[in-house]
Amino acid sequence: MNNDIRIGILTISDRASQGEYEDKGGPAIRDWLTLAIKGAWEAIARIISDDEVLIEATLRELSDREGCCLIITTGGTGPALRDVTPEATEKVCSKMLPGFGEQMRSVSLASVPTAILSRQTAGIRGQSLIINLPGKPAAIAECLHAVFPAVPYCIDLIGGPYLETHPDFCASFRPVGARRG
Ligand code: MTE
Repeated sequence: MNNDIRIGILTISDRASQGEYEDKGGPAIRDWLTLAIKGAWEAIARIISDDEVLIEATLRELSDREGCCLIITTGGTGPALRDVTPEATEKVCSKMLPGFGEQMRSVSLASVPTAILSRQTAGIRGQSLIINLPGKPAAIAECLHAVFPAVPYCIDLIGGPYLETHPDFCASFRPVGARRG
């Protein structure tokens, strides 16, 4: 089996895409994944504006052409007019996994009451798991720690590569009897 692990990191922000400020979310996701994932993987990073059609096109490209088994977005999950990341995610996915958003909001609410404003979600497109994170760099590690233990098994279930994590940093969970890579 081809075990190439390609992960899309998609920063969605009008201002970061125009160079008005530095993208801190994308690099924070990459740093977190570097600590979490055992072995080689490749990041495919993009920075785009909060444009729904562009977000959908970029998610399709990362999934269908780049072959990313996991796509993590940051930004555009709130209630503001230009926040349309969850809508774009739903449009390109065949199945939604609402538990991801529920868990991330639940964990985040313990540290910040405005976590309730994030409509972050997750879903499946083909052999890609797409997960939305909020735009605040501080939210990245908090949200990834909350849901990543279930990510490798989810990727198994959609026919993707076998992901292993460093247990001291983030222990992933597979049910007894799940296939080994
Ligand atoms: N979640 C965590 N863990 N930490 C945060 O600081 N910020 C919240 C929320 N979720 C936050 C968080 C705020 S202030 C907003 S408006 C929403 O995420 C949406 O943010 P976004 O539009 O940048 O995605």
